[in-house]
Amino acid sequence: MSDFQLTRTLDDDAAEKALRADVLHGLTQTPKSLPPKWFYDARGSDLFEEITRLPEYYPTRAEREILLERAQEIAAASRARTLVELGSGSSAKTRHLIEAMPALDTYIPVDVSESALAGAAGVLLASHPGLRVHALLADFTQPLHLPESPEPRLVVFLGGTIGNLVPAERATFLAAVRAMLSPGDALLMGTDLVKEESVLVAAYDDAQGVTAEFNKNVLAVIDRELDADFHTADFDHVAVWNREQEWMEMRLRARSELTVKIRALDLVVAFAAGEEILTEISAKFRQEGVRKELAAAGLELTQWWTDAAGRFALSLSVADGEVRTGSLGG
Ligand code: SAH
Ligand code: TRP
Repeated sequence: MSDFQLTRTLDDDAAEKALRADVLHGLTQTPKSLPPKWFYDARGSDLFEEITRLPEYYPTRAEREILLERAQEIAAASRARTLVELGSGSSAKTRHLIEAMPALDTYIPVDVSESALAGAAGVLLASHPGLRVHALLADFTQPLHLPESPEPRLVVFLGGTIGNLVPAERATFLAAVRAMLSPGDALLMGTDLVKEESVLVAAYDDAQGVTAEFNKNVLAVIDRELDADFHTADFDHVAVWNREQEWMEMRLRARSELTVKIRALDLVVAFAAGEEILTEISAKFRQEGVRKELAAAGLELTQWWTDAAGRFALSLSVADGEVRTGSLGG
């Protein structure tokens, strides 16, 4: 029997209001920028899935390798009866974890993409008939109201999505996750690691141009939702390694001087030739940095696993003062 529920904490009105505010703010300041969550309409979610299969985009394969290798260990350490996943997307890698957790009662995927949530739930319920799936259509940077579910809980945040937040946002986000954890709960987080520039740039600027299409999809979203007249062909996809900040920057660069009308905002936005919109950062980490950021939020790193090639890491952490002797939860 399938047991599925979807709670929308974002109605269409609220989402459109937030999009208007973000676009107005982001495109009227210098330099121009747009928040990354607007990539993910149904087409954006499909394009991201395509990115995860590209030969250049190693993070998904590296993280899957770790999950496959460590699923039993993670399941034994957390003994979770509820799995909460933030930015769950297709939940494809999460399935490996779910399969290792026979005591799991409830899976709570949280995402801004309703198409991704619906697709993931369909696949999961077909293969795990006893599982309760309670999807939350919500923005994980806002306060979350999780449905009632049995403890303990394991909160997972995969894909290196933490790196799409700037450091101040990460601090706020991790403190909010800390506040969600009761004694016995844990956080499993994926972080992409600092590595050679050429490998990073290729991962965000693939030969087939799928990442370029994904990046430009945010313009298509604005055209459709806010009655604007961006032409994606007027912009180039740019991926740059910022060595000081240790993050990748995704930008859209105007190929010539142009103006864009955004009718729903009654706004005309002027671009100089070569002017860029910053659409996303993707920070790359080192173990000590992750440990410090977790500690600053009241979380204690208890496990750190990487793939064999050392490209990507999964960390397990618990609320401060919760580390007991022996195994976690033991
Ligand atoms: N966890 C998956 C997907 C990563 S892509 C993986 O590892 O492959 C990032 C996901 O986070 C997308 O599904 C996107 O829709 C979602 N997302 C991005 N910003 C979000 C936000 N502010 N709140 C909730 N979900 C968000
Ligand atoms: N969370 C993904 C990452 O940081 C998102 C992503 C992958 C992305 N490729 C992208 C975002 C290209 C913008 C443009 O790896």
